[in-house]
Amino acid sequence: MSVSPIKVFITGAANGLAEVREGLADHPEVELVGTAADPGKAGTKLAESGAQVILHGTTATDHVPTSEIESIRGVTAAPIVLVTSASANAILSEALAAGIFDVVLLPQLTDGIVFTIKKAHSLAAGRPAGTAAKSTSSIEGKVVTFFSPKGGAGKTVLACNLAATFARQQQRKTLLLDLDLQFGDAAIMMGIEPEKTIYDLVMARRELDSDSLAGYVTAHQSGVHVLPAPLRPEDAELVTEERLGHLFAVAKESYDVIVVDTPPFFHGPVLSTLDRTDQLVLVASLDVPSVKNVKLTMQTLDLLHYPKERRHLLLNRSGSKVGLKPQEVERALEMKVEFEVPVDREVAVSVNRGVPLVLSNPRSGVGKALQDMADKLVPQRTAASTGGKKFRRKG
Ligand SMILES: Nc1ncnc2c1ncn2[C@@H]1O[C@H](COP(=O)(O)OP(=O)(O)O)[C@@H](O)[C@H]1O
Ligand SMILES: [Mg+2]
Repeated sequence: MSVSPIKVFITGAANGLAEVREGLADHPEVELVGTAADPGKAGTKLAESGAQVILHGTTATDHVPTSEIESIRGVTAAPIVLVTSASANAILSEALAAGIFDVVLLPQLTDGIVFTIKKAHSLAAGRPAGTAAKSTSSIEGKVVTFFSPKGGAGKTVLACNLAATFARQQQRKTLLLDLDLQFGDAAIMMGIEPEKTIYDLVMARRELDSDSLAGYVTAHQSGVHVLPAPLRPEDAELVTEERLGHLFAVAKESYDVIVVDTPPFFHGPVLSTLDRTDQLVLVASLDVPSVKNVKLTMQTLDLLHYPKERRHLLLNRSGSKVGLKPQEVERALEMKVEFEVPVDREVAVSVNRGVPLVLSNPRSGVGKALQDMADKLVPQRTAASTGGKKFRRKG
C-alpha cells in the first residue's frame, strides 16, 4: 500500500533550518507545502496549505515563542514541532506544557526529523505511531444534517464550513454529503470539480463498501471528502431511500463525521437521512417568514416523532439590525437558539471564490461560531462513544 507523503509547513527561523528544509524537500515521505518566516503573516497561506505537521524554528533560548505559536494555532490544529539550535533543555517542559508536540535540537539528520514528523502526524490522527491505521470498523460516525424549509437560508454555506472545520481544525475524518439532489452546489462552494457524484455511486453494480466509497468521493484540500449531488437534476430520482440507507451504513464505518446538506423540503431521501441523523441543525433567520416556516418544520418533525434532543436551532445572519430579536424567535418556536452565525459579507466573497471562510479566515466571527458548533455537536473525546438509542421513523 502506498502511503501519501505528510504535508509539512515550515515557519519561523533557526540556525540550520535551511538545511532541514533542503533535506525534507527531497524526502519521499514528506511534502513541503509552504514556508513562512513570520507565522503572524502566514495566516491564509498556512490555513489553506493543508499542512498536517508544522515545523517551527526559533532562536529563543530560554522561553517558548508563545505569540508565534498562538499565531499558528489560530489557523491550524496540526501538531507543532519546535526546531531550535539553542539548547532545548531549558524550554522542553514549557514547550510540552504549551501543547507543542516535540522539540528538536539542530543539527539533526533528515531521517531523525522525518521520524519526529511521522510520530507527530500519526499521534495527531489518533493512531499509535508505527502501527497500521486503526481498523475503520470501530468508527461509528456521527451524522450532522442541516435543514431549512427556505432556500437561501444558508444550509449549504454552513454545511461546507462545518465540514471544513471538522476536517481542518479538528483533524476528523469528514464526509460532506450533498443531498440537495437536484440543485446541489456544495462542490462549487468547496471550489472542486468532482469526477464522480452520488449518481455514479448509486448506479454502480458493485456492492458498496468502505473501499469502493473512497473511489466516489473527491478530496478537498482541507481534508474533507465530498460526495456531490448528481450533475443533472433529472438523475436525482435514482437516489432511492434504500441506496441511501446503505450509503449511510458504509459512510458511518469510514468517517468520524458525515455532514449532510439538504434541499428545502422533505422528500424520501431527506426522511431517510433524518432516520440516521444524530444532530439536526435547523437553520432560521431573523425574519417572520423564516420563523413561520421553521415552526411548520417543527410540527412535521413532531409528527415524525423526531426526538427533540437531536434538534438544534441555528440563527444565521444574526446581528443584522433589521430583523427580529433572537428572543422573539425563541418565543415563537418554543426553543432555545443554540447557535448564532453572524452576518458577514466575506461569506458571499468566499462562496464566489470557492473557499470556505473558515479556511481563509478561521478567526472571523463565522469561523469562531463554526468551531463552537463543531465542538458541541460532535464533542471530540466522546466522538466514538456517544452512540445512544437509534431513532427510527414511525410508519
Ligand atoms: N452568515 C452569512 N453572512 C452573509 N451571507 C450569508 C451568510 N449565510 C449565507 N449567506 C449568503 O446566502 C447565500 C445563500 O446561502 P446558501 O447556503 O446557498 O443557502 P441554502 O443552501 O439554504 O439555499 C450564500 O450564497 C451566501 O452568500
Ligand atoms: Mg443549498
